[in-house]
Amino acid sequence: MQKHTDTVFSEKSLGQARDVRMLRRLYPFIHPYRLLLLVTVLLMICITAFELAIPYVTKIAIDNYIVPGHRQEDRQTEQAERYLKVDLSDPDVRDIVSAYPEKFRVSADTAKIGYKPLSELPPDTIARLRRPDMTGVSYAAVALLVIIFLNFAVNFIQVMMMEYIGQQVMHDLRMKLFSHIQTLCVRFFTHNPVGRLVTRVTNDIQNMHEMLTSVIIFVMKDIFLLAGITIVLFSIDWQLSLAAYVLFPFVFYVAAKFAGAAREAFRTLRIKIAEINSHFSETIGGMSVIQLFRQESANFDTFKRLNHEYFSAGMQQITVFAIFMPFIELVSSVVLAVVIFYGGGSLMAERITLGTLVVFISYLRMFFRPIRDIAEKYNITLNALSSAERIFLILGENDRLPEPASKERFNMPEKITSITLDHVTFSYVAEEPVLKDISLDIRGGETIAVVGPTGAGKTSLINLITRFYDPDEGAIRINGTDIRQFSISDVRSKIALVMQDPFLFSASIRENIFPDRPDIGEKEIESILENANCRQFINRLPHGIDTRLSEGGISLSSGQRQLISIARALAHDPELIIFDEATSYIDSETEQEIQTALMNLMQSRTAIIIAHRLSTARIADRIIVINHGRIIEAGTHDALIRQNGFYHRLYQLQG
Ligand code: CTP
Ligand code: MG
Repeated sequence: MQKHTDTVFSEKSLGQARDVRMLRRLYPFIHPYRLLLLVTVLLMICITAFELAIPYVTKIAIDNYIVPGHRQEDRQTEQAERYLKVDLSDPDVRDIVSAYPEKFRVSADTAKIGYKPLSELPPDTIARLRRPDMTGVSYAAVALLVIIFLNFAVNFIQVMMMEYIGQQVMHDLRMKLFSHIQTLCVRFFTHNPVGRLVTRVTNDIQNMHEMLTSVIIFVMKDIFLLAGITIVLFSIDWQLSLAAYVLFPFVFYVAAKFAGAAREAFRTLRIKIAEINSHFSETIGGMSVIQLFRQESANFDTFKRLNHEYFSAGMQQITVFAIFMPFIELVSSVVLAVVIFYGGGSLMAERITLGTLVVFISYLRMFFRPIRDIAEKYNITLNALSSAERIFLILGENDRLPEPASKERFNMPEKITSITLDHVTFSYVAEEPVLKDISLDIRGGETIAVVGPTGAGKTSLINLITRFYDPDEGAIRINGTDIRQFSISDVRSKIALVMQDPFLFSASIRENIFPDRPDIGEKEIESILENANCRQFINRLPHGIDTRLSEGGISLSSGQRQLISIARALAHDPELIIFDEATSYIDSETEQEIQTALMNLMQSRTAIIIAHRLSTARIADRIIVINHGRIIEAGTHDALIRQNGFYHRLYQLQG
């Protein structure tokens, strides 16, 4: 028999997210949206181009119009002189040129004037001469506006599309996770606390959404931008670029170091918050015990310690970031200083234009922004990757009971004529059997009571019959066929289980009793409520059968919950009734009500009753006594009393 490894998704066992592999597992969820994703990437390239264009247009405006840098080609004079070239086809310009013949050098249809003589002219004359430049600058300004507007529009579309993809992917993932969790077997849920699973479906998915929308695509953008800036800078002036990039290997080295430290800090933080969470949920769950045993202050001390550890871990993480961010700020300033120093020198030597220097400064500012943001994105990414890892761990979880292949599946018999337990041995934990070699024959229509001390294995026995678990050895047969050869759902369709501690959903009583029969007639409802002895107390509730129960049905007493649970079983109209009597105290009146309801339920049905009160056991045709996972006695009440054994002692104890 296969032994199951217990899968417990604790925080500590995780941490080293296998980044790339995780993304590959995410891919099937992205696949349906790949075309859309491709479009967003293309839009992203557009946006990058727009952002790169903005400083470049500025450079054109400066170099071509604001400070047009035509140098004196004529090298006869010692000093190179910068001049303005004007077009003589314009009559106004011709007039000005003829008014100041000493300042202009006329050649064919253009005239040149040095900047120095130009500055000696009256302002309006200068403005007239530079009118074409003014027009150029206006064009540049309009071009900038157009680019900025386009950038805005494309950005909007891109963000909307990206968010759409992100929301869709998370939506699909949540569905997948939910439906997957629903198929897992009960064993899985006993090992995985509710809170943890809830976090998977909500928080962890949200974390991944953040990564999807704000990291992956933006990292792509950053890479485009960094590559684009590098290409443009090197093509404008490779010498100045070299000077600017000289520090970069160092920056990358530090960034890599930072990544390591950030990951470590993040991991600690993650573990600490998990500890706080589980402590907190345990506190809530066990609040009455804590208060009863006055453990508040001890419990608070534990929380205080955990909280402090979390605080320290948080501070450590902050420290890492607090060093990295200003460090990048510092490096970017140093790089700017280098560019201003070296570029300024080159400008004065007239090796580069003013526009080039300006464009270098703007691009380098743009360059450092993504590097600084990487820190933040790294954090989101780490968060998302560990979330992804946990989500995929659950999705990879296959703790289910085997179902027969459809070809080998047996059809569920219409009528149950016998239920046989054939040398059944079962354990929750390997090597610790809670049921040992149980053999039992139940005929159709028979009522069997199972009694025994607490922990004897009574509930475990019915867990096997309802196929929440499979036996390790032996078999359970219905009409001679191993129940593993039926589909699980077919087996359960014949069974109604009234649990020891019935769970009711936070819905109306009507929805709890008739979950799959919304169109049931009032007459039938009446008769079921009557038979289940629910009528009286339901009538006392504010909205009768339409009263909503709070979560877990805690607004009802455990006796009332069992009555509702019996009504639910009656509505289900099963072949086999399994009733696990409540262990909690129930007053004798309610006990009586439950017993008559139970009798109504059992009429002409096969029933297995786990009885804690021997008065309940007495109504059975046969009583099975279980102790330490073994059947030790069996027979009718009278026979067992006569036997003077374990049952007799139990009977005497209950007086
Ligand atoms: N057990 C376990 N894991 C579970 C449920 C039960 O290891 N998920 C163990 C219990 O510790 C117990 C044994 O299995 O020792 C039998 O449990 P159970 O069948 O639930 O005992 P009952 O006879 O139903 O006890 P009670 O009368 O208290 O309901
Ligand atoms: Mg039990």
